[in-house]
Amino acid sequence: MKIFRQKILLQKQIINEKSLSFVPTMGGLHKGHINLIKTAKSRFKRVIVSIYVNPKQFDSKKDFQKYPRKITKDINLLKKLKVNYLYLPNYSDIYSFRPKNKIYLHKLSKKLCGKTRKNHFKGVLNIVNRFLEIINPKYILLGKKDFQQLILIQKHIEKNKINTKVISCNTVREKNGIACSSRNFNLNEKEIEILSKAINYIKRNKKIMNKKYFLNKLKTFGIKRIDYIDFLNTKTLKRANNKKNNFNIFIAFYIGKTRLIDNF
Ligand code: PAF
Repeated sequence: MKIFRQKILLQKQIINEKSLSFVPTMGGLHKGHINLIKTAKSRFKRVIVSIYVNPKQFDSKKDFQKYPRKITKDINLLKKLKVNYLYLPNYSDIYSFRPKNKIYLHKLSKKLCGKTRKNHFKGVLNIVNRFLEIINPKYILLGKKDFQQLILIQKHIEKNKINTKVISCNTVREKNGIACSSRNFNLNEKEIEILSKAINYIKRNKKIMNKKYFLNKLKTFGIKRIDYIDFLNTKTLKRANNKKNNFNIFIAFYIGKTRLIDNF
């Protein structure tokens, strides 16, 4: 695996890659990332991964500082997975140029996480737009756990006619039902138990489709701070209010100081 910290050197190396697949990450790699990388390897052969904790997508400095960083462990894992390239930029390498494409923020950015995390999606699209320009990958692999991010990146790519195809991958879950997430590293055993109980309960009772009911139920599990519980048709991206519709529950809440999201 070749590691690059400078985009100029990276670009020199990958200029002749015809079918590169790209997995962007903020590190703290887990089974969800491994699934993205294995899918990329088996379908497209050549894989580049980026690790960069992007300060512009955090709405609070504390949250940015607390984000799990496990760079040595991550590099060893990526080597084992036979990733071809790893891009590890610093702030000036990634933010010191003016990208050709403008950020396109689809109106979905105003819903769900967009309501409570000011500028989060603008920050995500800013950096992904830069990665796409630097790397020019044929494919980008993204997980459905960050469903809103996945759709917004897709819309940005379509709007700007960027020549990269989005490959979405299913959420990977632990045996206890919780979705794999870097933020899980910040939870203790008791908090994981609460999360698992809550997720499994909502999953079993998804059809109830009653916000207030779930809010009260989550409180009984010890979850006090809830950003949202919403029901969205995953095709139309509109609010679903009928059980017959094909809908997902979207949730965001805090366990202790850790903010978690999921959808299913
Ligand atoms: O999903 C993430 O880890 C990040 O939002 C991404 C796509 C790497 C952009 O920083």
